[in-house]
Amino acid sequence: MIRFALINEKGGSGKTTLNVNLASYFALYKNSKVLIIDMDPQGQSGKSLGFNVRELEHTIYDVLTWEISPSQAIYKTRIENLDLLPSNKRLVNFPYDVKDESDRDIRLRKALKKLKGYDFVFIDSPPSLGVISFNVMTASNKIIIPVSLNYLALDGTAEIMDTVEQLKKTNHLRDISFFMIVPMLYRRTRLANEIINTLEKHFPRLLSRNKISMDVKIDEAQSHGLTIWEYAPRSRGANMMKEIAEEIWERLS
Ligand SMILES: Nc1ncnc2c1ncn2[C@@H]1O[C@H](COP(=O)(O)OP(=O)(O)OP(=O)(O)O)[C@@H](O)[C@H]1O
Ligand SMILES: [Mg+2]
Repeated sequence: MIRFALINEKGGSGKTTLNVNLASYFALYKNSKVLIIDMDPQGQSGKSLGFNVRELEHTIYDVLTWEISPSQAIYKTRIENLDLLPSNKRLVNFPYDVKDESDRDIRLRKALKKLKGYDFVFIDSPPSLGVISFNVMTASNKIIIPVSLNYLALDGTAEIMDTVEQLKKTNHLRDISFFMIVPMLYRRTRLANEIINTLEKHFPRLLSRNKISMDVKIDEAQSHGLTIWEYAPRSRGANMMKEIAEEIWERLS
């Protein structure tokens, strides 16, 4: 089971957009059984798939506090082969609930051990650094970093890598690696191109060949609770998403 985590503590870097569209691409076009796990109290992975997450009885919070098993909080989506383990505001309580527990940073990892039957898991993370995002990092085995191209992109990426390395050491984990850095919200400006060059220099192996530019269809799709494949499959946005998804697929094989 490949467990992708999309992390970047910077808000609005495109984590949720990439998460939902990649996961649904693999389910729709790669004959794979896919699960999205939302670890963001904003619940936007669920919202992006048309769920009213406020009203859901079972969420990832109940799983992480050992109330229920993961399979009890998994919902089918409209897309065949794509399931969702949703989140909502209740997840905000999780860091307080487990603050004295020695396994607080690896709860999701433990929970996923009980999960079977998926080819891919895609985990969305919140725009903050702390117990929730630590759980995302330790539960994954391949980390994808979506970066928006501002002058702090390099610094932010290096920070994430530091944090992951520390968590690996503290918890004696060896199966976690960095998989890809994906430039998001790209605009053809001198600054953006300079940042891409810097990322290329520092992380030649990790930087994706393709990048995702702005396309209003991507934003519109999300606001309608639809994936880009459902909302505008022939748009430029869909094409860019497809190229990244195919690049990931290629890298896996
Ligand atoms: N390539 C794109 N073109 C146009 N709009 C985009 C694109 N990528 C993302 N967006 C929009 O930008 C906003 C922020 O993206 P998204 O929610 O994916 O970021 P995030 O990193 O998950 O944010 P947060 O840190 O708050 O969870 C959303 O409204 C999304 O629809
Ligand atoms: Mg998000």
